[in-house]
Amino acid sequence: MHQRLNLMSPEIRANPYPAYAEFRRTTPVAQVDPGGLWAVSRYEDVLHIFKNPKLYSSEGLRLAADPPWFGRSNPISDSLIFMDDPKVHGRMRGLVNRAFGPSALSRLEPSIRATAEQLTTRVLDRRDVDFVADFALPLPASVIGALLGLDPALHSRFKQWADDIMAISATQPGDTAMLEQCRRTVAEMEQYLGQVLEHRRQTPGDDMVSDLLRSRVDGEALTAKELLGFLFLLLIAGLETTVHLLGHSARILAEHPAVLRQLRGDRSLIPRFIEEVLRFEPPVHGTIRLCTQDVTLAGVSLPRGSPLLVLQGSALRDEHYCADADRFSLERKGPQNLAFGHGMHFCLGAALARVEARVALEALLARCGTVSLRPEPVEWNFAMTVRGMRNLPLEVLPA
Ligand code: HEM
Repeated sequence: MHQRLNLMSPEIRANPYPAYAEFRRTTPVAQVDPGGLWAVSRYEDVLHIFKNPKLYSSEGLRLAADPPWFGRSNPISDSLIFMDDPKVHGRMRGLVNRAFGPSALSRLEPSIRATAEQLTTRVLDRRDVDFVADFALPLPASVIGALLGLDPALHSRFKQWADDIMAISATQPGDTAMLEQCRRTVAEMEQYLGQVLEHRRQTPGDDMVSDLLRSRVDGEALTAKELLGFLFLLLIAGLETTVHLLGHSARILAEHPAVLRQLRGDRSLIPRFIEEVLRFEPPVHGTIRLCTQDVTLAGVSLPRGSPLLVLQGSALRDEHYCADADRFSLERKGPQNLAFGHGMHFCLGAALARVEARVALEALLARCGTVSLRPEPVEWNFAMTVRGMRNLPLEVLPA
């Protein structure tokens, strides 16, 4: 009988990989804390779950975003990431796909580049930086803010909003102060995003929110609930994840000076570097599913309704998927990368996140010569699904 491991304990947050390796070796479906979810750690089982949404429902995500003890509704639960019915999900996805397609991305790229260059100047002027606050956060905040047409003055609130929404997943029913803070955040976002929708309804413009308000499928518009849920989802899904992709990228460059030199010598390696960062340190470590019927997974019988923590963070280090998986290497040409999920819920913003990371690294590598870790401690975020650093103290010197 294994003791239940708490995945939110500080040592595991700082380095969950040895625990994941032990799970894969001994208990590939293991019950964990908080919440008693069943952690699924092997690549083949994770892929099997993503490929079978009828057996493994995304309703499970409600445990992370809107658990019964939260005490109020969270509009994000009305968004497409929770939807199982392929028809309902497909209709919603059809309405929003265009906003993230190649032509929309090419329109966005010049402004992403301008922001990345300004932030690089800021980093080089300061030299001793908190890379998260000084670069990794403001870049995706400006992109998602512009995409949604939000007031730039609000960008500094985004991080608190995203942190609190993500923290719901790891907050226990007894932590009334934290739950109250999260409820206040949901109310604030609801009020602000509701005003954005109302403003665009009155004064439509050339932005994504106006496009969504105009969208019709078979003559039907998105409902007010669906619109609000989608804005919540974009803000949360598009910000926190990309912040962590940029943070992990910078830390890996600081820890691997040879990789930094290699990339500076050949910028065409940047996309390959990003794919390896996504494998080695995926910003989304796990997602949640509910078994819709009794199932047997890796030999473990799970009754209908069992909640699963589907650990991509472990699957991507699975030796059966990737040889020498604990080594960061630019040589890999992995078959498929689960970092953005798989199947019907495959990340809507994957291409956008890759553009942001590529443009950010191009701007940084053009002007930064050395990047090293400073001795101050790194703090890890607090969430079941997304894993990344709250701060990253670096010294960055010009080329
Ligand atoms: C490195 C950055 C990112 C990572 C690692 C990431 C990861 C993921 C993953 C794993 C899923 C699937 C979750 C599940 O199946 O339960 C997902 C879904 C989603 N992501 Fe991302 N994401 C990133 C960036 C973004 C960005 C920039 C946006 C938008 C601005 C975005 C929007 C979404 C949306 C809307 C979904 C739900 C899609 C659906 O249900 O059809 N993501 N993402």
